[in-house]
Amino acid sequence: MKTIRAVEFIDDHLRILDQTKLPFAEEYIITDDVDRIALAIERLEIRGAPAIGVTAAYALALSLKNIPEEKHSEIFENSFSRLSATRPTAVNLFYALNYIRKTFVESAGKENLYNLLIEKAVAFHKNDVRLCELIATHGMEIFSKKSRVLTHCNAGALATGGDGTALNVIHNAFINGMVEHVYADETRPLLQGSRLTAWELSEYGIPFSIQTDSTAAVLMKLGKIDLVVVGADRIAVNGDSANKIGTYNLAVLCSYHKIPFYIAAPDTTIDYECATGDRITIEFRDNKELTRIGSVEITNSDFPAYCPAFDVTPGRLITAIITDKKIYKPPFSFSND
Ligand code: MRU
Repeated sequence: MKTIRAVEFIDDHLRILDQTKLPFAEEYIITDDVDRIALAIERLEIRGAPAIGVTAAYALALSLKNIPEEKHSEIFENSFSRLSATRPTAVNLFYALNYIRKTFVESAGKENLYNLLIEKAVAFHKNDVRLCELIATHGMEIFSKKSRVLTHCNAGALATGGDGTALNVIHNAFINGMVEHVYADETRPLLQGSRLTAWELSEYGIPFSIQTDSTAAVLMKLGKIDLVVVGADRIAVNGDSANKIGTYNLAVLCSYHKIPFYIAAPDTTIDYECATGDRITIEFRDNKELTRIGSVEITNSDFPAYCPAFDVTPGRLITAIITDKKIYKPPFSFSND
């Protein structure tokens, strides 16, 4: 089976699979430059909450490569600010940056600080791989029969340091004979579903079809969907979960059609400082992402547009949240004790 890795650390550089080129070409961005990595995150060349976190951890560590000690603090803090400003919703970004900063503060003045930070980033990445495995294992519990599953956006290997969250649950269930068919929402406007999830599913040999986001309702009405499982970018203490725009629509539809709706995410996506979903910062994207597909204008680019990248699904609409620790059922009340 093909192993997909969105990001890898090779020879003191990051190798990022450029997701804006998929599914037509597998091209890599190879760089050790923090600004280039920050740009890759902003452009969604690398995307998905856990993958953003892993990439940012490496980037912050790389910021000290070949930097004399007297400049460490200035360069490190500038890089921290630059990376923090890339995408506001995925809490994994801030978790990863603070994780590297902790070592920076504790190890200030030590020889080979760069190597120490890189070791931490590698450990962070390895841990993400492990979290993906655990989520997939715990996710088996949601399959009571061979199922037809709908997913939104891309929460696969492309979105993490390892093999994915929601899509890894589906993949593992498929390997264990519990998935009949996957319906992948195309996920307007950037088409993470029809480009990225579809590409992963075809690489894994899982039967699937893509459909416009607005087709989900009729698929449910026709009895073609047994369950929905998606990822998350930030989960509040009460279970409210931010994920790709359109996720909330699916949760409402599932509630109406009495179809189980699951979130799959690592513990690193839970924001213990955030009591409820209305405190989650939602990223707004450039209007052009709506008025163009790729470089083709599909409407007047001057038309006003409303472009949130994410929405928040209330915890009460979520059947369960699958994490690396366990499956949480409502009412949700997360604590990091
Ligand atoms: O804008 P994106 O493509 O970064 O949005 C990604 C999502 O919404 C994913 O579902 C989420 O990050 C979970 S990825 C395991």
